[in-house]
Amino acid sequence: MSSQKAQLIDGSVAVVPRRGAPGAPRPGAEITGVDLRAIDDAAFAAIHRAWIDHQVLLFRDQHLTDHDLIAFSRRFGDLDHAPIQENGQSIANGMPEIYVVSNVIENGVAIGSLGHGEAVWHTDMSYLSAPPKASMLYALEVPPAGGDTSFVDMYAAFEALPDALRRRAMGLRVKHDGTYNSGGYVRLGVTPTDDPREAPGTLHPLICTHPESGRRMLYLGRRKMAWLEGFGLAESDALLDEIWSFATQKKFVWTHQWRVGDLVLWDNRCTMHRRDPFDANTRRVMHRTQVKGSAPPMA
Ligand SMILES: [Fe+2]
Repeated sequence: MSSQKAQLIDGSVAVVPRRGAPGAPRPGAEITGVDLRAIDDAAFAAIHRAWIDHQVLLFRDQHLTDHDLIAFSRRFGDLDHAPIQENGQSIANGMPEIYVVSNVIENGVAIGSLGHGEAVWHTDMSYLSAPPKASMLYALEVPPAGGDTSFVDMYAAFEALPDALRRRAMGLRVKHDGTYNSGGYVRLGVTPTDDPREAPGTLHPLICTHPESGRRMLYLGRRKMAWLEGFGLAESDALLDEIWSFATQKKFVWTHQWRVGDLVLWDNRCTMHRRDPFDANTRRVMHRTQVKGSAPPMA
């Protein structure tokens, strides 16, 4: 991560914002000088402020047990229990808050979810009426190449929308599909259909206001099976494609190359993320937590 001027939080803890090209804001800041096993309330308040301001935070060189990861995550609110994995397994090490993201197979059994393929752009679980507000990933094993995670700034995408496109987007609602997870797998208990109007899901405004920052942003969720309320399928696809291709331009994106010990925390309300594929014969193990949302996204 290239650095701008660091803002000192207290002592040696600092927020180092990413530097984008002039006029091209990107999400992300690195928090340096902090051991997440030992933060006090003042340090947490500063981290929370930085999270609202920068949307995605990177903490390097951490040494967290699952218990430590859960304790830090709980400072942001109640945690979701991890969804049932594709193989029916649901709990890592007896801790229901930990979701294992991994391609590793041990003794014929996958230890985690989402395989080694690409995970396409998405917001976590936006098909819920109150989607999670934060997610974090902690890197235990990383492959020598690939598996990078990218984040897109949905404030910046909204703010840069051309006037004509913004006018067309105002007041619309998107149906967020609950059929597939980000690895493209059908969620447990769902019978897939090709018609987004028939699929399980939830309507949310296309343009939302962040409840804590007060800033407006695009709220897209996931492209596959998305549908604009009241539109014909072709008409909906055409406008969604136009908005999606605008919103996911490189200038709004930060791509993170993982190191073991990295913890990345993102604001799930105003960012989307995706993952590059990686070699199936290499190992990638991440432990992930998710903080419950408290309210539906609002226009
Ligand atoms: Fe995700």
